[in-house]
Amino acid sequence: MKHKYSEDEVFQVSTKKQLEKRVTEEFKLQYGNDPCNVTLTPGRVNIIGEHTDYNSGLAMPAAIDRWICVAISQSNNKSSTIYSLNYKKCITIFPKSTDKIQYSWIQLATTAIHILTTEFGLKEGGNVVVGGNIPIGGGLSSSTAFVIAITYTFCQLFSIQIRDRKLAYLCQKIEHIALGTACGLLDQYSIILSKKNNFMVIDFHDDTIEYIPIYLNEYSWIVVNSQIQRELFDSAYIQRVNECKDGLEILKEKFNIDGFRNIDIDMLLELKSKHEILYKRLLHLVDENDRVKDMIDQLEQGATNKIGPILKKSHESLRLLYQVSCKEIDFIIERSDNFDGWHGGRIIGGGFGGCSIHLLSNHVVDDYHRYITTNYKKKYNIDPDIL
Ligand code: GLA
Repeated sequence: MKHKYSEDEVFQVSTKKQLEKRVTEEFKLQYGNDPCNVTLTPGRVNIIGEHTDYNSGLAMPAAIDRWICVAISQSNNKSSTIYSLNYKKCITIFPKSTDKIQYSWIQLATTAIHILTTEFGLKEGGNVVVGGNIPIGGGLSSSTAFVIAITYTFCQLFSIQIRDRKLAYLCQKIEHIALGTACGLLDQYSIILSKKNNFMVIDFHDDTIEYIPIYLNEYSWIVVNSQIQRELFDSAYIQRVNECKDGLEILKEKFNIDGFRNIDIDMLLELKSKHEILYKRLLHLVDENDRVKDMIDQLEQGATNKIGPILKKSHESLRLLYQVSCKEIDFIIERSDNFDGWHGGRIIGGGFGGCSIHLLSNHVVDDYHRYITTNYKKKYNIDPDIL
């Protein structure tokens, strides 16, 4: 599904307070009174551990200071009305409407409300205004943040007690049903279970989470949005999920192993000649899990200077083995490598467009901004967005 949105000033709003103010003002305009509740739900970056969540792997995400803001009050009837500031569109959702919907945000909101109605017996709907400054379809988890924002705000309004992992599972189910995707739990966990000023280390094998305090000292993390929309994303994502499962099945028969985390490089060599694609996918997985462990060690030792090479290797693996990059982001990484003070970077999120994350020395951040904007614009005639 294609994302379509008008360039609203809401994307430029930079603080929580401003966003809340903008959404609350719009609520008063749309419904003539104050909202009962206003919530903020962040987007996320993933430092390392890409396409590992649905393969019982490791990942290291963090929530970011970009949000979806939702204002709500009861509608006093069974239907819900949602006004989106980003899309400049108002929709009404009836409890049992089953029409096929063209836009993914409407499909997500409709599915969330239908599922809440069925599972928790909602008797009434909500009047809602939603707006956010997370780039849409950019790999910063705007869709998941949107689902969580709508679901959580309805739960708050109707005193439905669902939190933490249970909320994450519910929101994952909503996305699966609404979009037919097979996403893992990386985005839901990062958004719901993150802690301020900490990276999370999620182990999807035993469902544990640890937190590592972020000390950046003389370094900055920068996100560059390539502005490339991820059109083939959903089908290619499901294909990757299935390829990993197929590879695991072959290895299970041959080596009598239980799951992804028992796979080692020697076993993979068995796949190489007859199943080259499956070999590549699983090699990425095994190496990427090791890179997460390496990243934990370097961060714990404060060796921030050793992080860059880990990021670069991850990008190469996503480009060549998992094959989820795109030429525009490869160009950004390649050009950045010539820039003094850039230590490493990689594509983030599901891939096929969207954003990349970069580690820079603080003193070069402004120069890098100018350098990458000029180079990217010259090559593709697109202005990147730098966060
Ligand atoms: C998308 C999915 C996540 C995860 C990432 C890749 O963001 O929603 O579950 O698989 O891609 O790491």
